Formats: sequence, structure tokens, C-alpha cells
Amino acid sequence: MLTGASVGVGLAIARKLLDDGGFHLVLTARAESLPRFAEAGIRAGERVWLRALDITDGAQRRAVVEEIESKLGGVDTLINNAGITYRTVAEYATAAELSHQMLVNYEGPMALAALVLPSMRRRRAGHIIQISSAGGLMAMPTMGLYSASKFALEAASEAMNYEVRPFGIRVTLVLPGFVHSASYKKALVGRLSRAATQQVGDPYHPHFANMDRLIGTLMMLTSATPDSIATCVLKAMQRRHSPLRILATWDARLLWWFRRFAPQGAYVWLTYHMLPGVRTWGMEGESVPPAL
Ligand SMILES: NC(=O)c1ccc[n+]([C@@H]2O[C@H](COP(=O)([O-])OP(=O)(O)OC[C@H]3O[C@@H](n4cnc5c(N)ncnc54)[C@H](OP(=O)(O)O)[C@@H]3O)[C@@H](O)[C@H]2O)c1
Repeated sequence: MLTGASVGVGLAIARKLLDDGGFHLVLTARAESLPRFAEAGIRAGERVWLRALDITDGAQRRAVVEEIESKLGGVDTLINNAGITYRTVAEYATAAELSHQMLVNYEGPMALAALVLPSMRRRRAGHIIQISSAGGLMAMPTMGLYSASKFALEAASEAMNYEVRPFGIRVTLVLPGFVHSASYKKALVGRLSRAATQQVGDPYHPHFANMDRLIGTLMMLTSATPDSIATCVLKAMQRRHSPLRILATWDARLLWWFRRFAPQGAYVWLTYHMLPGVRTWGMEGESVPPAL
């Protein structure tokens, strides 16, 4: 069972699983995105089910899992791929944006995992694959909400791994870094943050201008593709003992080593000083008169 399967990394995983031919696939997407399967040449069949699933909707989550359990005996492998990205700075983030980000990237996937676990536990087999992110290892300015959701997914999945391993159930976190795709163009930007990206005088304008350029450039320059991430997922499914974390791109591996082995002070100092144009950050917006 795969979430967010109609586009991007999810579609690449779906294609690999279809090519393999050895699986009964339940490909899910939000109802309005289901027509994309036909556009991608994917048709429903006896061994390929296409189902509507908004990961934030508890009734839809239950309906899909119940149907799989009643007709197929349960989910063997759950791939939680669906995800969204908010771009905002901490000062401008609203409670609604935070809640939406956490619901899609953390609460929804964990709730779906909780639904498939009882049957996996009874069968003493199963695999839960969480598509996480290098953003779950390291937080970048203007990406705090996204990283918060992936850090949460990392922590909850790591704990779940220890809980379910005694029942023969595997948990794998797949961490891509930048992937060559246009997905950054789909990032959700809150009202205040959108204004900051557009208004030169906004105190956070340089943060967005520089980070947008950096993220856009890195996403276009990287050699990692949705297809290469899908290959990592398929390998994880085929290995009997896949590790808890799979660092799916070279930049994710680099970040992991940097975070793990650089002394804490050096890590923060270097990260800060490598931010693009950071010397110009804080130069705009209202200036506060010095305290007397
Ligand atoms: N692309 C990267 O550089 C990158 C890097 C690291 C990690 N990742 C992770 O990889 C995963 C896939 O990302 P992607 O690059 O393929 O992004 P994408 O092209 O934006 O696709 C995201 C998928 O999630 C689905 N989705 C969003 N909200 C949903 C909801 N409420 N319920 C169900 N599905 C929902 C989308 O469906 P709709 O089209 O219907 O909205 C879409 O299928 C995400 O978890 C992302 O965080 C991506």
C-alpha cells in the first residue's frame, strides 16, 4: 500500500512496483488526483487497486485498510510517501500552518501505521517504510515547519521500530536529500511569508530570496531523481534485513556524517556561515533604536 502515488517520488515507486510485477498493489492518492493515474498510463486491475486516500482523513484511512484486510488479509508493506512542504520563518508561522504540516507529514502517516499494525502483528510479518527527508536530520532557515514534521516522523518511527520488531515487523526510514524535481514549486507559503518573499523591505526578505535560490538550484543540480529514490525503496523491500535508516542521496549521507561527527559548536557555526548571503540578512526592516 502506497500513499501519494500519483506524482513525483510516489509515482516513481508505483512504476517500479508495477515493473516488478510480484506485488498486489494498492496505490492511493487524494480523490482529486486519481485521474493522474490514467494520465500516467496506470490502470486499475485485479492486482492493481487505485483508491482515494487523503492521509489527513481518518474515515478514508480506515476504509482503505479495512477493505485490504477483508479482501486480501492485510497490508504486507505500507509505504508512507505523501508529504507537503511549508516555507515559512518561525515568526510568521501560524497555528493552522503548523497543524496542517504536522497532520500530513507526521500524524497521518503514524495513524496509518497504527491501523495496519494489528494485522501485521497477528501475522508476525510486515514492513512499514516511511519516506522521511534529510530535513529530518538537519533544519534549514525558512524550512522549520517541514523539518519539525520530519524530525517528529523520525523519532516516532525509531521508537515504533523497537516496539514492533519483536513481532517480526520491520520499519525503514528512507531519507532523500535534494531530488531533481519541481516539487519545491509546490511548497505552501503562508500569507505573511508570501509577503516577505515579495516585499524587499520585509525583515525576512533576504532569508527567502537567498534560500529560494539555493533550494531551487540544488534541486535542479542534484543527480538524485524520483526514480533513484524509488530504487532505494524497492531494495529496502527486497532485503531481509534493511537498516532502520537509508540515506538515499549523497547529500543526505554527507549531512548525516557532518551532524554526527562535527563538534556541536563547529556544526552550528559552519552551517550559519554557509547560508547564502547571510551577511545581508537582518539588514532590512525596521531598525530598533539602541537601548539607552
Ligand atoms: N522532492 C524532494 O526533493 C524530496 C526530498 C526529501 C524528501 N522528500 C519526500 O518525498 C515524499 C514525496 O515527495 P515528492 O517530491 O514526490 O513531492 P510531490 O511531488 O509534491 O508529491 C507529494 C505527494 O503527496 C501527496 N499528498 C499531499 N498531501 C496529501 C494528503 N493530505 N493526502 C494524501 N496525499 C497527499 C500529493 O498528492 P496531491 O498531488 O494530490 O497533492 C503527492 O502525491 C514526501 O514525503 C517528501 O517530503 C522529497
